[in-house]
Amino acid sequence: MTKVAIIGAGPCGLSMLRAFEQAEKKGEKIPEVVCFEKQDDWGGLWNYSWRTGSDQYGDPVPNSMYRYLWSNGPKECLEFADYSFDEHFGSPIPSFPPREVLYDYILGRVKKGNLKEKVRFNNSVVNVTYNENNFEITSLDKKNDKFSRDTFDYVVVSTGHFSVPFIPEYPGMKSFPGRILHSHDFRDAEEFRGKNVVVLGSSYSAEDIALQCHKYGAKSVTIGYRNNPMGFKWPNGVKEVHYLDKLEGNKAIFKDGHKQEVDAIILCTGYLHHFPFLTESLKLKTRNRLYPPKLYKGVVWQNNHKLLYLGMQDQFHTFNMFDCQAWFARDVVMEKVKIPDNSEIEKDINKWVTMEEKLENPDQMIDFQTEYTKELHSLSDYPKIDFELIRKHFKEWEHHKVENIMTYRNKSFSSAVTGSIAPIHHTAWESAMDDSLKTFLNQSNK
Ligand SMILES: Cc1cc2nc3c(=O)[nH]c(=O)nc-3n(C[C@H](O)[C@H](O)[C@H](O)COP(=O)(O)OP(=O)(O)OC[C@H]3O[C@@H](n4cnc5c(N)ncnc54)[C@H](O)[C@@H]3O)c2cc1C
Ligand SMILES: NC(=O)c1ccc[n+]([C@@H]2O[C@H](COP(=O)([O-])OP(=O)(O)OC[C@H]3O[C@@H](n4cnc5c(N)ncnc54)[C@H](OP(=O)(O)O)[C@@H]3O)[C@@H](O)[C@H]2O)c1
Repeated sequence: MTKVAIIGAGPCGLSMLRAFEQAEKKGEKIPEVVCFEKQDDWGGLWNYSWRTGSDQYGDPVPNSMYRYLWSNGPKECLEFADYSFDEHFGSPIPSFPPREVLYDYILGRVKKGNLKEKVRFNNSVVNVTYNENNFEITSLDKKNDKFSRDTFDYVVVSTGHFSVPFIPEYPGMKSFPGRILHSHDFRDAEEFRGKNVVVLGSSYSAEDIALQCHKYGAKSVTIGYRNNPMGFKWPNGVKEVHYLDKLEGNKAIFKDGHKQEVDAIILCTGYLHHFPFLTESLKLKTRNRLYPPKLYKGVVWQNNHKLLYLGMQDQFHTFNMFDCQAWFARDVVMEKVKIPDNSEIEKDINKWVTMEEKLENPDQMIDFQTEYTKELHSLSDYPKIDFELIRKHFKEWEHHKVENIMTYRNKSFSSAVTGSIAPIHHTAWESAMDDSLKTFLNQSNK
């Protein structure tokens, strides 16, 4: 029997488990599947942890989620085609849920069957090699401090790529008297109440952490961008300046001459694609981009078609794109998809990478990833979902952000799966301090 290893039980690993389950329900004979997960529960980044640094076994903590995190895109853009929000919650909910609500939703569809039995929790994959016909995986059972070796025909890498921080150094950091941390270790904006905070970076973490610190009472927030400013209309108390030059004591000096007293510096400088467990010839090496090279259809490792990667792209689309990838990967494993010859593969990868390199603005990037996801969707029996509506939603959402970065999360969108329209949330995001599932779902709380 074919044996498949899935590494990681985050959203991508769960999509993979679900894809096999759906084939089995249709009466197809599926391979033997083992999923390795180094945390003690599933859900990946959405399984919030207070821990930073290493866990109780000395293993690096993969989690980068923080308290009070709300979805930064409309939930209608990430909805599963085979499990709608309406089905999970029983009635329509607002478009921008907090973490706990999304976590509940992600787990809802996998909890129903017996998928959890396929996951080996607290098992960290430490080595993967390929020997002629199959993979040898070494994993560490962290609880019992016991290494095991197994062989598999296929390996699916779904370990995420927002867990290992990229940490640059700036002059003056060694003698800076305040706190320096990376967004990976940011857990609670309350910590920065009354403080002068500098946030470095110009992407989603910088945007959201700056606004979180502002929302929870930071004295001032100064964002230092490197290449391009985000350029939003920031609320009073938040400003965006050009690149940190150096620190002198507790003063941050920026390239544009701006000076700011600072208590804490939060490096929102992104993450590394880091796969220390993969042997060199199997290792994807890329920056965070919309089409990492060497992956046929963004999934199949060009040099070994039995190695599949999920979710390695920079992400506008998330959960339903992961599903499309997982359904495609499943059909590769079950030999329902025919992988073309090397020159076709090369041509296909080059086509996408060349298009990606020409993208200039968010609308074009949304179009690009929508086209990619639509193509994948057409290659499997993943259920019907209106990606044209999702494309439209993403563009509208981008424009809402430009209009007002403080209010874009108060808008409502319609479902590309059920057509239902989201209600407006009872509390505007700016003043919603309680992000619990209970409060969020209590729509009578108006
Ligand atoms: C702060 C933050 C906020 C985000 N907010 C949003 C949002 O609002 N909306 C959205 O759609 N997306 C958001 N994302 C994007 C996020 O990437 C996806 O939502 C999703 O979590 C990706 O799923 P994944 O399975 O690829 O990776 P992950 O969620 O990272 O899961 C990977 C899993 O692999 C496990 N693992 C790693 N290495 C090993 C190993 N060697 N052995 C065994 N197990 C291993 C990890 O423990 C983890 O459980 C956010 C990301 C971050 C960092
Ligand atoms: N739900 C939410 O609200 C929320 C919150 C946070 C994160 N997220 C998700 O988390 C994921 C990761 O986002 P991310 O922002 O952490 O990573 P990212 O999108 O990869 O962005 C990395 C940023 O780091 C900057 N950078 C790199 N090196 C730098 C340096 N030396 N000095 C200054 N800046 C530097 C880059 O700037 P250049 O552009 O100049 O290269 C870029 O702006 C995304 O999927 C995002 O959606 C979601």
